[in-house]
Amino acid sequence: MSAKILVIAGSLRKESNSKAIQNTLCERNWSGAVLESFDLEGIPLYNGDLDGEEKPGLVLSFKEAISRSDGLVVISPEYNYGMSGVLKNAIDWASRPAMKSVLKDLPCVVITSSPAGTGGVRAQEQVHKTLLACLSQLVPTPQVCIPKVHEKISNGRLTDETSLEMAVNAVESLVEWVRSRDRVTA
Ligand code: FNR
Repeated sequence: MSAKILVIAGSLRKESNSKAIQNTLCERNWSGAVLESFDLEGIPLYNGDLDGEEKPGLVLSFKEAISRSDGLVVISPEYNYGMSGVLKNAIDWASRPAMKSVLKDLPCVVITSSPAGTGGVRAQEQVHKTLLACLSQLVPTPQVCIPKVHEKISNGRLTDETSLEMAVNAVESLVEWVRSRDRVTA
């Protein structure tokens, strides 16, 4: 059985570099895994008053997509030394109920990018902390921070070989983690 991996990108703009990375990874053929993207567009701002028995439709769809998945790839830009509000907001919705949400025990890897030379490394650290707060599993893999990302995208796809190889390695680590965990629990 193929591992089901969900891929989210924390940017809404059409020409987003994060979305380009998301699309590149989702289109690829993977051994033992299928990658599916989820678009965060339209997820409302977190409001505890809306987070009752009945939740906004897109929030439900997002949480269902996560619970159907064996692993999660989070792709984030860096905004003011942190992750984008779009991404944090979506994770906040998915993180409830606290300590037993759909994110609990979910294996994850994080990819950041930036037009700057820092590659979104500060956002990467913040996403890690947030996922730890959700009791997700951060899969051990070399950190993927893609600097000068605008020079590495052509026609909406990540084409720089070195960056692509790093991103692919991280996804493969995630898939291997999921598959070895399944073997242990089988
Ligand atoms: C940025 N950008 C940015 N880049 C960075 O390396 N460090 C930062 O702190 C910030 N801060 C920041 C704040 C805001 C509000 C914006 C709009 C942008 C640049 C940002 O990383 C760049 O625009 C990316 O291309 C955005 O990601 P997408 O939309 O291409 O995925």
